[in-house]
Amino acid sequence: MTTHFHITAWFLALVLFFVALGLHKSGNQKGSKIVHMILRVLYLLIIATGAEFLFRIENVTLAYILKTAVGLWVIAMLEMILIRTKNQKKTSILWGQFIVALVLVLYLGLSLPIGFDWF
Ligand code: HEM
Repeated sequence: MTTHFHITAWFLALVLFFVALGLHKSGNQKGSKIVHMILRVLYLLIIATGAEFLFRIENVTLAYILKTAVGLWVIAMLEMILIRTKNQKKTSILWGQFIVALVLVLYLGLSLPIGFDWF
């Protein structure tokens, strides 16, 4: 169950991130704000389902710690890109970090034993 929740939560978060950006760019500030609030709830769900994995794993190796750190890095980038875009500040460095962190977290998540098929 948790595997699917974790996947659902981070996948939905990525989708809603782009929806929030799109709404903001098309001038729908209210819509963007609402989607951003739902996105923040999803951050908590991603962290909760990830933490649940960590509690159940007996031998937490460096790879898990890295996976967690990079997962949090992705979440930080989503939040910072949205805030800085709304404040009309530069986001190119954040986008670069977002792409690197996303590739890394997908690689680390899928290469660790749970992957897609624990349940
Ligand atoms: C946007 C951020 C994140 C993304 C894109 C992501 C992605 C993934 C992926 C692709 C997997 C493997 C399959 C699955 O989804 O279950 C995974 C597993 C996992 N994630 Fe995340 N994750 C994120 C955030 C986090 C956070 C914040 C934590 C810790 C609090 C975390 C902890 C874990 C753990 C412990 C596993 C199990 C690793 C294994 O043994 O396979 N993740 N994650």
